[in-house]
Amino acid sequence: MLLPKSGHMLNKIKIMKSIKLGLFGFGCVGKGFYEILQSNATYKNSIKTVVVKDQNKIRAIEASRLSYDKNDILLDEEIDIVVELIDNTDDAYFIVSEALKKGKKVITANKKMLANHLEELIQLEQTYGGILLYEAAVCGSIPIINILQHYYQEENLESIKGIFNGTTNYILTKVIKENLSYSSALQQAQSLGFAESDPTSDVEGFDPSYKAAIVAASAFGIFVKPDNIIRSGISGLQLLDIEYAKKNNWELKLQVQLQSKNGVVWLSVLPAFTNQTDPLANIAFENNTVVIQADYAKEQQFSGKGAGDFPTGSAVWSDLINIIDNKRYPYKKLKTNQNVLINPDGFIKVYVRSENGILDTSDLPWQELENHFKDKLDNYTIGYISLKQLKRIIKKYNSSIFVALLPDSEIKLNTAIKTKELETARF
Ligand code: HSE
Repeated sequence: MLLPKSGHMLNKIKIMKSIKLGLFGFGCVGKGFYEILQSNATYKNSIKTVVVKDQNKIRAIEASRLSYDKNDILLDEEIDIVVELIDNTDDAYFIVSEALKKGKKVITANKKMLANHLEELIQLEQTYGGILLYEAAVCGSIPIINILQHYYQEENLESIKGIFNGTTNYILTKVIKENLSYSSALQQAQSLGFAESDPTSDVEGFDPSYKAAIVAASAFGIFVKPDNIIRSGISGLQLLDIEYAKKNNWELKLQVQLQSKNGVVWLSVLPAFTNQTDPLANIAFENNTVVIQADYAKEQQFSGKGAGDFPTGSAVWSDLINIIDNKRYPYKKLKTNQNVLINPDGFIKVYVRSENGILDTSDLPWQELENHFKDKLDNYTIGYISLKQLKRIIKKYNSSIFVALLPDSEIKLNTAIKTKELETARF
């Protein structure tokens, strides 16, 4: 039996019929999002214009919707929802800020652009009365921004850690579990559409550092420049690192960590040896996980696909549904957390490995040493080192060293770390 439609329902149908959105970009995520809408009768006709850059590419879009001119969306007064899914950061910044200045509702998935301009974009949103949503920018299909902005809008969080990058997790799974070469695993991640157009952003940990900066605004009410985040990637990974993990029955993951304590927030993106009992230990392939420690809710874990056309397209679609309902992020914590200290110096326990000819890792400025190992090719040292020094060393040696946290690594603020005797195993 057909039920009579309520006034609210009729109103909603009318709104849906009148939605006119403009889509920028038709890459992996843009195409995924487009196809999701095309397969859904309610949204099928909602995309008025799709603006793309390359005029030579053949695309599965009706010619009447296709354009190469950004003004066909930005200056079209009928279009009040702008979905920005392009690769170029500067162009994305222009599109998003111009659209917000026109009071439009904007959805973006551009992590780098958001991480570098979030504070300003939120101001534009508030000044001109538009809306800015970006669920798809962090961890693909996991609705982490909504969880932080709505469920946790007031509850204090102690920490957030997770796997925020699908490409590196895919590579680590393939290399460690299936003995595939690093370059073949990266190629697979690229052809599956997980990797950035320049995969340096994935493998050097830039991409998850952008996501960490975006998460910090929702979780702790702070704006962090991505450069301020302690970051090292997986491009220096060698067999010895994998053997060291296996010998200890540990997994190896590129971990994002945000820790908040007594007015200090530390943020890092570093490979980490993880115990088998760690919620991140068995997250494989392009899956992402976010683990939250909250004052009252205690530990919560969220897992799902962190990259790919439909999983990320699903997050964009969810933003679209929210934006049609005029839902915005409340940013409650921005108003209370003004005096937080971000990444002050401290000491952290790390493993640093290098080839012998490049660096003897025991020569680094360790505050406390725990272990040093050397064979014919490589050497590694484990100990406490200052965050400032660690950043400097990562910058200097980049992928000719491999840095990883230990399962019991924690940041210590004070300098009261006693220098232990060096236990050296030399072969
Ligand atoms: N390159 C990103 C990743 C895409 O691998 O996670 C999703 O943000």
